[in-house]
Amino acid sequence: MNTPRTLILSLAAALLLAPALTAQPAAPAPSPAAANPPALYLGTAWYPEQWPESRWDADLTLMEQAHVRFVRIGEFAWSRLEPSEGHYDLDWLDRAIRAAERHHIAVVIGTPSAAPPAWLTTTYPETLRIKEDGRRDEHGNRQQFNWADPKYRELTRDMADQLAKRFGHDPNVIGWQIDNEYSDISFGPIARAQFDAWLKTRYGTLDNLNTRWTTAYWSETYNDWSQIPIETTDGNPGLLLSWKRFVSDTWRSYQKNQLDAIRANTGPPTGGLCPVGCNAEKRQFITTNMMGFYDGYDHYTVSQDLDMASWDDYVGTGQLNPVSNGAAHDLTRGFLRKNFWVMETQPGFVNWSPNNNSLDKGGVRAMAWLDVGHGADAVSYWQWRSDLNGQEEYHGTLVGTDGTPVPLYAEVARIGAEFAKAGPALEGTTVKSDVAILHSYDAYWAINWQRHNNAFDPLANLFAYYGALRAQAHSIDIVNPSVSLAQYKLVVAPALNLLTDQQAQNLIDYVHNGGHLVLTQRSAMKNEDNGLFTERQPGPLASLLGGRVEQYYALDTTIPVIGTWGTEPTKIWAELLSTSSPDTKVLMRYGKTPLGWLDDQPAAITRKVGKGSITYIGADLASDPESPTLAAAAKWMLADANVHPEFGALPPGVDLYIRKNASHEVWIFINFAEAPQTVALPTAFENVLAGGQTHSVSLKRFDVVILQRPTP
Ligand code: GAL
Repeated sequence: MNTPRTLILSLAAALLLAPALTAQPAAPAPSPAAANPPALYLGTAWYPEQWPESRWDADLTLMEQAHVRFVRIGEFAWSRLEPSEGHYDLDWLDRAIRAAERHHIAVVIGTPSAAPPAWLTTTYPETLRIKEDGRRDEHGNRQQFNWADPKYRELTRDMADQLAKRFGHDPNVIGWQIDNEYSDISFGPIARAQFDAWLKTRYGTLDNLNTRWTTAYWSETYNDWSQIPIETTDGNPGLLLSWKRFVSDTWRSYQKNQLDAIRANTGPPTGGLCPVGCNAEKRQFITTNMMGFYDGYDHYTVSQDLDMASWDDYVGTGQLNPVSNGAAHDLTRGFLRKNFWVMETQPGFVNWSPNNNSLDKGGVRAMAWLDVGHGADAVSYWQWRSDLNGQEEYHGTLVGTDGTPVPLYAEVARIGAEFAKAGPALEGTTVKSDVAILHSYDAYWAINWQRHNNAFDPLANLFAYYGALRAQAHSIDIVNPSVSLAQYKLVVAPALNLLTDQQAQNLIDYVHNGGHLVLTQRSAMKNEDNGLFTERQPGPLASLLGGRVEQYYALDTTIPVIGTWGTEPTKIWAELLSTSSPDTKVLMRYGKTPLGWLDDQPAAITRKVGKGSITYIGADLASDPESPTLAAAAKWMLADANVHPEFGALPPGVDLYIRKNASHEVWIFINFAEAPQTVALPTAFENVLAGGQTHSVSLKRFDVVILQRPTP
């Protein structure tokens, strides 16, 4: 139900505007916090339901002093929002939103579906998920719900509907997070029946399914849909992939169920309250908090209905690795191909890692600016204050149980002040890359189900190519092979094991249109049913390459590979290549070893195709991410594709992130190395934080320097 306050406001506004704009419902004026959205939001997860209301103002005052500009609230508060079935209590949430508003802090509401209350799961036990071992989950933790259950969907939709009707036009609510970190699924009869229906829709007939999965193998042939089992690790590859796609589609429909209820009740435009990257209509945005390279579902499938991608960026044990962390940001930016939010990040340390050590002093600030450098427009700390009880008592926070700041608070307040100062320079800017790395969940799963050599880790493989290319190109997009690639000069596909027909054609068109494509080991081996192509690798791309993989070898020894990029001891995996076209050139060859099969055989080949080119790397260049051969290969790829990075090599440990728009570009330098470093700049830049013009920057460990200049 609408609050009386909202009703009165909208009725009054409607009366005022009635003669001129009878068809347009009037929007309430945005709150001061929402009316002037910062380009960069500092945020925190706040749980007002856990604290006496008399305490709220003190917490919000401390937040405001730290330049916190939004809080995410509500995402685990179902038992307070609906204490018993059908009895909603949203007034306290309204009061919390109003309290935040008084402190110029905007609100993102999380729908509470990741933690159903006890009354719900007791009344409707079928809403509890069934684990893979057949046992039903129970109340007492979170994520115990069944994502496929119609009753659970009805209840979560009702809740989203109630929230959106009450707050969908709230002037201080800028957006919505649906649920929280989709992960645990259910294996019971409900999911089973839905999987059967999903298979019928996809394959039409059992004959078709049997053929495409080659079920004649091991007498797997199915005579009835109900005979098809659910397998997650050892089943037929077509079955394994189908289950994962079903899981992804089910998360999408689970999300859409709530999203539709929210979208129907948000807008019309409330004006000015939308952060960069939000929906075109400037309504309250809708997102969900994803988890980087977590592979429980296909994130490209699930993100397509959202206005904006966001993710939860945790280090866990150790210190930040700028390469793997940067790749996770670039992955998230690639879901909707625009800026995104870091919806949660660690305030120093977490509580769920084998060793919950703290990031070094200064590391939280460096991490926040790395986030922004990769295209984040918000960084939000989980959580504001320690819970007095509950499963996460040891987690890092910004204030302690006593309500006073912990040592990290000052570092986060500094980030907030810097976000405010640098925001205008970063407003409307994003990362623009000439280079893309292709990533698909299908390919990633396909390799992980059949690694063939356990040491072949597709993610480590991707990080190695990403790191080598990023060190020289400074910005990389990570995108799905089905999207348009026209904007890229260079596209690198590390171990893109599986290709749909559409993806294969997309890559072929890309090369014919002048693009430079590099495929690496294990690419283009499998079709969209996770079956083998009838052509050897790279399957549908073999004739374009004028060459192919004659045989693949999992290695238990080291094999030298020698040629254009230097000399590398290749490990883990080797592919024996051949050329079939006179203009396909050999770039690298294997040396002699007792294995014999690879002696003097091609290890990397390339062919020019019009203005474009296609290259295949059969040797393992990725097991040592620091290898000079990998660096030389990356340099060759960039030169072959005519990519001329705006800046040359950086001192070890120094990273550069560039965001730009038509008028100007912002360069962010961070030094992650122990040793101080100095970098000479190609032109004069304005120093955004320190002021003045500069031609060089000096950085101690974790120093951050933000520069801007007109776009050349
Ligand atoms: C996230 C989760 C939060 C909190 C946090 C602790 O995965 O979304 O609710 O549990 O971890 O690090």
